[in-house]
Amino acid sequence: MGREFASACARWCHLTEMNARPELVAVCDKNPALYDWYRDNFPSIKQITDDYKTLLDNPDIEAVYCAVPHNLHEQLYCDIIKAGKHLFGEKPFGIDKQANDAIIECIRQHPGVFVRCSSEFPFFPPMQKLGKMIEADAFGEIIEVNSGFLHSSDLNQDKPINWKRMIAFNGEYGCMGDLGMHPCHFPFRAGWFPKNVRAVLSKLVKQRPGKDGKMVPCETWDNATLLCESVDPHTGNSFPLTIKTQRIAPGETDTWYFEVKGMRGCGRWSSKNPRRLEVLEYTGGEQAWRQIDMGWEAAFKGITGGIFEFGFTDSILQMWAAFVYELAEGKPKSRFASCVTPAETAMSHRLFTAALKSWKNESVEKV
Ligand SMILES: NC(=O)c1ccc[n+]([C@@H]2O[C@H](COP(=O)([O-])OP(=O)(O)OC[C@H]3O[C@@H](n4cnc5c(N)ncnc54)[C@H](O)[C@@H]3O)[C@@H](O)[C@H]2O)c1
Repeated sequence: MGREFASACARWCHLTEMNARPELVAVCDKNPALYDWYRDNFPSIKQITDDYKTLLDNPDIEAVYCAVPHNLHEQLYCDIIKAGKHLFGEKPFGIDKQANDAIIECIRQHPGVFVRCSSEFPFFPPMQKLGKMIEADAFGEIIEVNSGFLHSSDLNQDKPINWKRMIAFNGEYGCMGDLGMHPCHFPFRAGWFPKNVRAVLSKLVKQRPGKDGKMVPCETWDNATLLCESVDPHTGNSFPLTIKTQRIAPGETDTWYFEVKGMRGCGRWSSKNPRRLEVLEYTGGEQAWRQIDMGWEAAFKGITGGIFEFGFTDSILQMWAAFVYELAEGKPKSRFASCVTPAETAMSHRLFTAALKSWKNESVEKV
């Protein structure tokens, strides 16, 4: 993810209306094999180190993007904030709720530091359009909302283990910690918070080949389906909100999806067909889904013509534009063109912690 950010920096000229730009001046990674890539591509880099504390002593650094395994989030994020550097952290923003609480407390104690968390899902143009429709109350009373993030490569039982399949590095949340912030971001931003949750968690593959090919335990949850009760802020009525995070969803390479159904209108989008927005507007007549093929109609304007396709790396660039814009201007460009806030990460931790309890106790848990 560090290199994804670096690549977005290199492509900043793509954006035509930004008053600020990031300059990559230092890199920290424990893996020296990555250094040449950074050195060869970014003459602006003046410091490369394997010790993040050395990097934090560098007065030329204003902001840090920190993308490390989840067990390191609390220590590194808090040290970055205490060093007075603005922070763009990765999800899940702490390996568990305790770690997230500690990060949130550290942010509270350092109000001059700007902190946001990564999630590029809402920056796809159809999602931006759905955001505008929510702001215009186009859906009416909410009937149901479904949001999810699905992977499938773990269907291959020969896939070697990595840190994301180990509790010590990825955390007890398993797939929820790794994938969950993405499908939470948009519903939370819409004001659709989970009031309670009934979770079904699955551990399908219990062993995977280790470094030497010998089988080792694969400890984390592969799939999680969370059925939540949420409340429509306009009516005060409850509606079902599902958040699905699955690492074993056959056929789904890397699918984000979102669907809202309301009494006046419905909308849905999936990254399987990233330019296609589907909407159903109900005015009493026929109920028909319309398909709109959207092009590069991004929140942060760029050089690409409006008819061309928008992709994953565009969403990364847009997410970074949202971070830099808000850091420089002191306010987000718009409600849905802004990054996950620390408070939203805290809400996701309450949800995932309640989900673990729900599955263990076969109970409905308050969030
Ligand atoms: N937003 C997204 O779409 C997205 C996608 C993938 C991963 N992530 C998140 O990014 C984070 C990292 O995931 P990844 O897939 O990039 O993992 P990764 O294993 O590919 O990269 C982690 C990097 O951290 C380095 N590292 C480990 N300990 C370090 C330390 N003490 N100091 C400095 N560097 C250290 C490793 O050498 C490695 O290069 C996680 O929080 C993950 O959830 C986000």
